[in-house]
Formats: sequence, structure tokens, C-alpha cells
Amino acid sequence: MKNDCLVLAIETSCDDTCAAVIKDGREVLSSVVASQIDLHKQFGGVVPEEASRMHIEKLSLVIDEALDKANTKITDIDVVASTYGPGLVGALLVGVNEAKAISYALDKPLVGVHHIKGHIFANFIENDIAFPFVCLVASGGHTHLYLVKDYMEIELMGQTLDDAVGEAYDKVARVLGLGYPGGPIIDEIAKKGDKANIDFPRAWMGKDSYDFSFSGVKSSVLNYLNKAKMTSQEIIVEDICASFQDAVVDVLVTKTMKLAKKLNIKSVAIAGGVASNSELRQRFRDACKDESINFYYPSRKYCTDNAAMIGVAGYYEYLSGNTSDGSLNAVASLTLGSKK
Ligand code: KG4
Ligand code: ZN
Repeated sequence: MKNDCLVLAIETSCDDTCAAVIKDGREVLSSVVASQIDLHKQFGGVVPEEASRMHIEKLSLVIDEALDKANTKITDIDVVASTYGPGLVGALLVGVNEAKAISYALDKPLVGVHHIKGHIFANFIENDIAFPFVCLVASGGHTHLYLVKDYMEIELMGQTLDDAVGEAYDKVARVLGLGYPGGPIIDEIAKKGDKANIDFPRAWMGKDSYDFSFSGVKSSVLNYLNKAKMTSQEIIVEDICASFQDAVVDVLVTKTMKLAKKLNIKSVAIAGGVASNSELRQRFRDACKDESINFYYPSRKYCTDNAAMIGVAGYYEYLSGNTSDGSLNAVASLTLGSKK
């Protein structure tokens, strides 16, 4: 007799083709990620049409591999979950349509999962976190600050008004000729630089604002480079990386901690690709220790896009009765929580 609940999860919102099998919402039986980085890095960023085409080519193989690694047959699956937004609409559609087809063929429930919710829920894979907690989601597409009151009650407290922080990392890396994606490269190079050498601006957005802006610091790096080239000043890439990272990490940590303290919240979590940044993790570790606040973050493989996080979030959507029918569609600009 079978008591456990197996979720087959699919994630194709951007440039990673991902599938996972999750047991009872917590245990990752398998998580397969087929990265498209090699395809997109020649263009210095994600080319949407190429991403969709690659998802179509890879998704069935990735699902088969996830089932194999989990030692599971597709007929053992109880729930089929897929990211349905936000993201690149053509890319999302590949995952949503595959999930619909599998759910129909198996006659098993279909669940649409919000991508950002997936990032937040990645924290539950390796940690038991008590509600409420403050969660900073920082990735290539998002910079959002949430108050997570319960699995289904998530309130938006602040967000970027222009570039996402990962996008700023990628653009700065591009102008420095460092390659794509820029975040992990800058993270490494910054360790060898002196952050005190250049003063890049921090956008605080007003005293009580929890919103963010990263277009200013990005332009400031561009201006610094242009000026240095015109005046034949030496360009120390390590110092630029360290100073840029210091400016963005300072704002992310300060605002998140300020929110937690203001609301008297005892746990802070981070999520999304940028949550794997070593400096960000260290500054949060130190700040949370000073304030006796618990600090949580997912392993690196669960920070960047993956389907395990979608399976965890999908399980709780399913438990809450949030199933979908064949009319589930991709929503490129899906929002999560509204600001009060
Ligand atoms: O979560 P993710 O895989 O995709 C989105 O939903 O956007 O995040 C990708 C982003 C990229 O911008 C990448 O440069 C950034 O996360 N990233 C990092 C690091 N690792 C990945 N940024 C800073 N430091 C890192 N170590
Ligand atoms: Zn993501």
C-alpha cells in the first residue's frame, strides 16, 4: 500500500530545463537540471527563442532522467506540478504543456506553481523554518522582499523598481568582459579586490522604503570604466568587482534586516540565484548573529533555478486544494502577493 505523495515537478521559465521528483513535499528523490548556459553565453544573455527550442528538445529526456534517478515509474506519480509564471512565455509554455499532457494521460492532479514561490520554498528542502519569516528573493529576474506568514500567505514588502540584482551582476560582468552568467564570476574575483578603493552609490529609496534600485550602481560602474579609459587610469577589475558587490550586498542586507527588526521577526531566509553569493551569505550570517535572528539559505544547487523547489511548492499548493485543469496557461508577468 502506498501512503507517500510523489510530485513530478517541471521548471522551464528561463534557461534551465529542469525536472524533479519530490516525496511528501520535503524529500528530493531526484533533481535534474539541463543548463543552457553554453548556448546563451555566446550572446552574453538569454535568447528567448533559443531557450524555448532547447526546452522542447530536452524536457522529455530530463523528465525520464529524473524518474530514473528517483527509481520511480511515471505511473507512481501522484501530482504533476509545473512553473506557470513569471518568466519567458515561450519557455514557460513548454513546461506547462508537458505537465498538462502528463497529468491528462495519468489522470493525476495538475498544479501550477509560481516561480518566486518556488525559490522561497527551496528553503524548506534542508531546513525547518518556523513562520513567520522574512525572505529576500534575489535572482536574475527578481529582487523581492517578502513576509512569509504561512505556506499560502505571503506578503510583498518591497521590490526592485528597475533592474534585478542578478541582472546588474550580469551586466557589470559583461562590460568588464568577464563572461556569462556574471554573478558567480564577480563573486570569485571580488575576493581578491579591495572594496574600499571605489565608492559606488547605494540606492536607499527613502527612509522607510523596502524597495530597491540597481540601475544607478550599474550605470555608475559603466561611467567609472569609461572615465578610466579616457584618462588612461589603471583599471583594477578585482577592486571594481569588490566595490560593486559591496554596494549591492550592503543595500540587500541592510533593508532585509531593517524589515525583520521592525516587524520583530526572528527568522530571515534568502533565495534565488544571488543567494548563493558568498559575500551576501557572510554579511547576513554576521548581521543575524548580532541580532539573535535565525538565518536560512538553500544549498547552491537549490538557489539557482531547479525543479525540486517547484515540487516542494507544488506539494503545498496541492494540499491547499490549488489544483488546475487543462486551461492552465503560462503567465509571463505573474505577481506574488501585493504591497499593502
Ligand atoms: O535564480 P536564477 O537561477 O534565475 C532566475 O530566476 O533569474 O538566478 C540567476 C542569477 C544570474 O543573474 C546569476 O548571475 C546570479 O543569479 N548568480 C549570482 C551567483 N550565482 C548566480 N549572483 C551573485 N553571486 C553568485 N554567486
Ligand atoms: Zn529563478
